[in-house]
Amino acid sequence: MADDKENKKIGLKTTLDMVVEGCRLPVKMSILPNEEEEWPLAEILSRKEEKGKLEFYVHYIDFNKRLDEWVLPDRLRVEELQFPKKDQKTPQKQNSSAANSRPTTPDRELQLSKKLSLPEQSSPAAKLGGQGQTPQSQTKSNAGRKRKAIFLDEKQDLPPAYCNSLLSQDSQDAPATPQPSAPPQQPRQTGSMSSSHDENIITRIKNMETIELGKYRIKPWYFSPYPPELTTISIVYICEFCLKYVKSRKCLERHRTKCTLRHPPGNEIYRKSTISFFEIDGRKNKMYSQNLCLLAKLFLDHKTLYYDTDPFLFYVMTEYDIKGFHIVGFFSKEKESTEDYNVACILTLPPYQRKGYGKLLIEFSYELSKFEGKTGSPEKPLSDLGLLSYRSYWSQTILEILVNLKPENGERPQITINEICELTSIRKEDVISTLQHLNLINYYKGQYIITLSQESIDTHNRAMAKRKIRIDAKCLHWTPKDWAKRGKW
Ligand code: ACO
Ligand code: ZN
Repeated sequence: MADDKENKKIGLKTTLDMVVEGCRLPVKMSILPNEEEEWPLAEILSRKEEKGKLEFYVHYIDFNKRLDEWVLPDRLRVEELQFPKKDQKTPQKQNSSAANSRPTTPDRELQLSKKLSLPEQSSPAAKLGGQGQTPQSQTKSNAGRKRKAIFLDEKQDLPPAYCNSLLSQDSQDAPATPQPSAPPQQPRQTGSMSSSHDENIITRIKNMETIELGKYRIKPWYFSPYPPELTTISIVYICEFCLKYVKSRKCLERHRTKCTLRHPPGNEIYRKSTISFFEIDGRKNKMYSQNLCLLAKLFLDHKTLYYDTDPFLFYVMTEYDIKGFHIVGFFSKEKESTEDYNVACILTLPPYQRKGYGKLLIEFSYELSKFEGKTGSPEKPLSDLGLLSYRSYWSQTILEILVNLKPENGERPQITINEICELTSIRKEDVISTLQHLNLINYYKGQYIITLSQESIDTHNRAMAKRKIRIDAKCLHWTPKDWAKRGKW
């Protein structure tokens, strides 16, 4: 009997010895998206043994990397161990862009993110811590429903690729939904953060346990190149105003006696109620900008951090209370973008996520583009959450215009895609992909038309009623600079 127990122990030990990097096996997830996936397949990325305690760093194959975690052996189903196959690589989709994601990912993420925004992820310090048919055919199927049909004025509004995909479809079919725009051919090699493709094992493993920023303790999602000595301590303290990082509360208190900042550096270019935006020049405020990038990298997976912040402007959104202007989120923007990107990276800090601040940041970025008299688009690839947020913003912004179009001389309202672009500063490709995603474009009697069902109008109106905080252009005090003419950033 004792021998048997010993044998089992040896057996288990031998099996655990075989669990090495690259192996796959079912692992019990700490955040459970749903019943069947309690033990999803995971890949071993690393193992460590400290004071006789063995732990494995796992990546859940079909899930975003932010769920990667260290687990104890009892959460491994070792009997189902799969050894690495030759040339087996973890699929990139969950590692990087939404562009590589399966269409099911946002749903899955939806469930996951609900769990992700649970209080323990980012708790306040108090605890310390349209429908694709012709108007006629639709009249039949949607009898009794009020509809709005809008004619797209120019056929040439649609670039050839989209025309082909539309024309080759049966008019009853939903047009194929393309990605908003193709990812760049090459990752950018300059900039504060560029698209990352070649990840090594070190940067695939989260290196920071917890950060304390103002009244929040936050669990990082991804690797960020903070100094190695900070990666061995359980909490890294970050000054919420200058973003300097220190290793203890004492150090932070000492720092706060010297640090006079109560708001981000740079110019406050927008204020309405408690929301402000500060514009920070990556060249003039290098330290702050670098610290901001380091902080952002903790929640951005598909970007590599660069220390050259000179070519960027940072727009930091804050919320005011008597203690100061607290950072909520930010976006960065290239001073000169050859691709007309109006956002390089965008982030809402986890404690503020899913409250509409992301859309507020996006709305602000398009407001700047309107002031510049340009259309813009976010830098690709987008993350899964980035794509969800942009899709939602684009849909609401475009629908808002369509819903409010007034009939002219009793005729159906007309608008061109170019006019939508001019009104919103959303780039043409993004307008088209949104209309297609919403399944609103139809080809009818030689014209593209948009049909809005009463149902989609109602859904839209309900969603807009929920959008309580909005950007008020009157509160923006800003003149765009022509960086190309300036000769230097
Ligand atoms: N699951 C499902 N839907 C989500 C989630 C989620 N976890 N997060 C946001 N959304 C949806 C919201 O439901 C909302 O749509 P709806 O109003 O139609 O329901 C929309 O996205 C925007 O929600 P907000 O509350 O305005 O956005 P939030 O403040 O959460 O910020 C952001 C969105 C900035 C993408 C945030 O999730 C974030 O910082 N993520 C980490 C960094 C990142 O991925 N940034 C984008 C990278 S791409 C780039 O930088 C160009
Ligand atoms: Zn400080």
